[in-house]
Amino acid sequence: MTDLSQPAAGVQPDDTAASVPPPLWLLAELTYRCPLHCAFCYNPLDYTDHSRELSTAQWIDVLREARAIGAVQLGFSGGEPLVRDDVEVLVEEAHKLGFYTNLITSGVGLTDQRLGDLKAAGLDHIQLSFQDSTQQLNDFLSSTRTFELKQRVAASIKRHGFPMVLNCVLHRYNLPHVGKIIDMALAMGAEYLELANTQYYGWAHANEAQLMPTREQLEEAEAVVAHYRRTHGERCKIFFVVPDYFEHRPKRCMNGWGAVFLGVAPDGVALPCHAARGLPGLTLPNVKETPLREIWYESDAFNRFRGLHWLKEPCRSCEEKEHDLGGCRCQAYLLTGDAANADPVCDKSPFHETVVKVVQRAASASAAATVAREQPILFRNDANSRKLAAAAREPDVTVISGGSGAKP
Ligand code: FES
Repeated sequence: MTDLSQPAAGVQPDDTAASVPPPLWLLAELTYRCPLHCAFCYNPLDYTDHSRELSTAQWIDVLREARAIGAVQLGFSGGEPLVRDDVEVLVEEAHKLGFYTNLITSGVGLTDQRLGDLKAAGLDHIQLSFQDSTQQLNDFLSSTRTFELKQRVAASIKRHGFPMVLNCVLHRYNLPHVGKIIDMALAMGAEYLELANTQYYGWAHANEAQLMPTREQLEEAEAVVAHYRRTHGERCKIFFVVPDYFEHRPKRCMNGWGAVFLGVAPDGVALPCHAARGLPGLTLPNVKETPLREIWYESDAFNRFRGLHWLKEPCRSCEEKEHDLGGCRCQAYLLTGDAANADPVCDKSPFHETVVKVVQRAASASAAATVAREQPILFRNDANSRKLAAAAREPDVTVISGGSGAKP
């Protein structure tokens, strides 16, 4: 296994800095606190170990430094960013700096008052998440009663004149509802609908056996999306993000490590991708200690998988490497134990069989029934996070099931 605690052979940060473009997209994860408990959340399983949040002044410094090195697009996310009462202040600062700003929210806490204040502060865009088109599944998957609230919030967002993206994460439970989800987005007047098939990191990885769909479900959903695109044109732009477990080639994850994306976690840790916190041995710099410019251009964490220098075989000699850059580092780690391996989604990877087995298990009705019977969904909540964090510290501790032992 590659030792991620050592700088990559042959990487000279100064060499890299000369050719590295600026980060275009800053994701400010303001908090890990969240009123929802989604089974597919990408936050780290041990988020309760990282709960100390940057202050308002520290976030303002992050925004200024990021803008100074070229970031133009800014997402405020979490957890639920609206649990903080300084979002309006941060949006105002970001607007003054010239960012295009997007609030990524569950809708909980997005009152009319706050919408008006955010509008006045210069917020450009809102992404509102739904878990499903039905109250039952929406509320089950988030382990909250929020469906009606989200509907009210969607109407308020439109009343305040914001462009709105509805986001719905897809998996085996709600893929059969894709048509109804699109109808819901159309009825709400969403300009965009992001149908994002689950990516298996964080809590989604812990629930992979529960959430992984069948190929038939995906194909049917894709056909439904194609039908709506034909019949409704551009009235609502629908993005359907295909889960790469069902592909033969990996995705160009994050459009390249350290290429366009710079995330900052609630406690100030800088992230080359949403899930990088889960890569053992990768020392992630913190904005409290290191200037953002230095983090982006010079830190080992951001240079580790940047470009192509680090690729191992079979990627190193692959003619498609410029296209996919070896795929996703976090997926490679989660499925093979080594983040420097080829993403096993690729059928040229010696570990591709691991992905094939996951897909086959999802296709087997009897295996799915066994999972549903024996393996309750692990909801993202503080109690489960503390248990998982303790289990990671002491491997003898076993986390058996989700707090509520829930089954749909
Ligand atoms: Fe981390 Fe793909 S999610 S590299």
